[in-house]
Amino acid sequence: MGMLAGKTALVTGASRGIGRAVALRLAAEGALVAVHYGADAEAAGETVARIEGAGGHAFAVRARFGGADALDRLFAGLTAGLAGRGLDVLVNNAGIPSTTPVGQVTPQELERVLAVNVAAPFFVVQRALPLLNDGGRIVNMGSTASRFAVTTQLAYTISKAALEAMAPTLANELGRRGITVNTVAPGAVRTDMTAGYTSVPEFVAQLEAMTALGRLGEPEDVADVVAFLAGPQGRWVTGQTIDVSGGTWLGPLMPA
Ligand SMILES: NC(=O)c1ccc[n+]([C@@H]2O[C@H](COP(=O)([O-])OP(=O)(O)OC[C@H]3O[C@@H](n4cnc5c(N)ncnc54)[C@H](OP(=O)(O)O)[C@@H]3O)[C@@H](O)[C@H]2O)c1
Repeated sequence: MGMLAGKTALVTGASRGIGRAVALRLAAEGALVAVHYGADAEAAGETVARIEGAGGHAFAVRARFGGADALDRLFAGLTAGLAGRGLDVLVNNAGIPSTTPVGQVTPQELERVLAVNVAAPFFVVQRALPLLNDGGRIVNMGSTASRFAVTTQLAYTISKAALEAMAPTLANELGRRGITVNTVAPGAVRTDMTAGYTSVPEFVAQLEAMTALGRLGEPEDVADVVAFLAGPQGRWVTGQTIDVSGGTWLGPLMPA
């Protein structure tokens, strides 16, 4: 039996990329998974179909973060799908990039990045609190962008730094209920979000050269760490940021 048998999970942004891998992984451990998505119903349907095809249980929930009634839609769909059960695992994964040099970031772009990457997970946590079972887990998807400076990503970087700042305080506040709260911070992972630069061999070579383990990440590399934090073995880790980057930008490689 899987380590999450009898448990429930919500994974935001689970239609594609890292979120899909997390949803598949948690479902493979036995959790009933709410597969949240923003717009791509076909991709969300494929995530659900893959989970069910492997013998797991899942349902899709659409809510476009940044839109007026997104939280109401999300929690209406979530509570309907949970059918009276509480929530054990919340993974705030949905996010959007910003790759605009600082001089060209418009107020609208900054507002949207902060709405989707910061305000949405903040209020998802707030709205989830009454549903979250004692002993539950919250995992927020940060980024190594908050650890090292990537040019043209200032708006994204500050959004991920703000998200990362939530975990310690939330962990302190929810700890007496046995709820852990952590941030997982991936480096470059091959997904739709990064297709623009992971399709450029010269840039991939640069990234690989600055990564101790010598390759880019895959969504499953991240999903395994989320599953660890979500499962019983992660019970004594809270308020932390876990770097999941294969050791990206640890320091200079000196000539041997
Ligand atoms: N890929 C990387 O290298 C990397 C590195 C560090 C951190 N991260 C973080 O990991 C998370 C997942 O990234 P990814 O690379 O897997 O991204 P992705 O492939 O672009 O997938 C993004 C997911 O978020 C959902 N989403 C996007 N905007 C949304 C909105 N306004 N409302 C609701 N849902 C929305 C998408 O739903 P639809 O399919 O419906 O559009 C999709 O499920 C993000 O938080 C990202 O910042 C990624």
